[in-house]
Amino acid sequence: MKILFYGAKNYDEQFFQKLFPQYPGMEFTFIEANIYPETASLAQGYDGICAFVNADLGTAVIEKLHEYGIRLILMRCAGYNNVDLETAKKYGIKILRVPGYSPEAVAEHAMALVLTANRHTHKAYIKCRENNFALSGLMGVNLYQKTAGIIGTGKIGLAMARICKGFGMNVIAYDLYPNKELDFLKYVSLDELLSSSDLISLHCPLTEETKHIIREETIAKMKDGVILVNTSRGGLIKTDDLISGIRDHKFFAVGLDVYEEETDFVYEDMSERILQSSTIQRLLSFPNVTMTSHQGFFTEEALTNIAETTLQNARAFMNGEELKNEVLS
Ligand code: NAI
Repeated sequence: MKILFYGAKNYDEQFFQKLFPQYPGMEFTFIEANIYPETASLAQGYDGICAFVNADLGTAVIEKLHEYGIRLILMRCAGYNNVDLETAKKYGIKILRVPGYSPEAVAEHAMALVLTANRHTHKAYIKCRENNFALSGLMGVNLYQKTAGIIGTGKIGLAMARICKGFGMNVIAYDLYPNKELDFLKYVSLDELLSSSDLISLHCPLTEETKHIIREETIAKMKDGVILVNTSRGGLIKTDDLISGIRDHKFFAVGLDVYEEETDFVYEDMSERILQSSTIQRLLSFPNVTMTSHQGFFTEEALTNIAETTLQNARAFMNGEELKNEVLS
């Protein structure tokens, strides 16, 4: 079976290649180009492709992949909001993913964003390097005994809830399907979470229902001085409304690992380019916004687990075994 890896970075190759000897009967090719309608033809002659969160697997691409005989799409990530599942289903193309490869990796990054955005460690570091030992602009707030509101208590939300508990926070949560076994947090309505939380961390998937769950109307319900963190998907937040909220001094701090416009930039070095979009620049112009580039997953443990599960998924497909990690529409 031949698999083409789109959008492959050095670190992808490094973690996957270590495991290849355990997967005889499979051939893997890595290319840097990501998948979009113009690059889909590169998949000709392969049985399957492997893609990441920033891939365009919309209708046009899936149609082309079907034309080229692709039967398998291996997502080397948990999310699949970028895949047209209906069209894939129509053509019998299987979509497999890597659920929960390291919830702690993402949750720990969410807390890193909270701490950075709150205590301005990124600015303090640069100031100290410049021999500026003044503290102006660096004041934060204690998290201890404050309320953390977790939206989505799946694998990552639960890991984040545990971290917040460890900080001595009171943890509340909102989920469509509350996990009754969790006794250290209290489930509340979305409205109550919005109005009671000092920290709101988003961990639900991007669906039609959750798109723009954070918008003017929900921002208005939040406490003044709230800290908002998004490590889930950019589309959960309506960016223009967030910008208005920041301008209205609603937020003490905002930490974003994901944002609506990220697909064109994420994982690329754009430092020599003049960006045509102003939204990211507007967000970065605010002193209380901290951004990273969709790196929540980026730990050695997570990359090891991603490589292992992706290759197990490929082998299960090749051998006609049960597909435990199939995404069903
Ligand atoms: P999960 O499937 O374990 O948990 C998602 C939770 O959200 C479930 O408990 C579900 O019931 C809940 N949910 C679904 N719809 C909801 C709604 N309308 N309102 C409230 N809750 C709702 O997913 P997991 O593994 O915890 O991942 C969460 C998200 O994190 C993924 O969908 C992905 O977008 C994002 N992610 C980000 C990464 C990064 O590098 N920044 C890496 C991996 C995942």
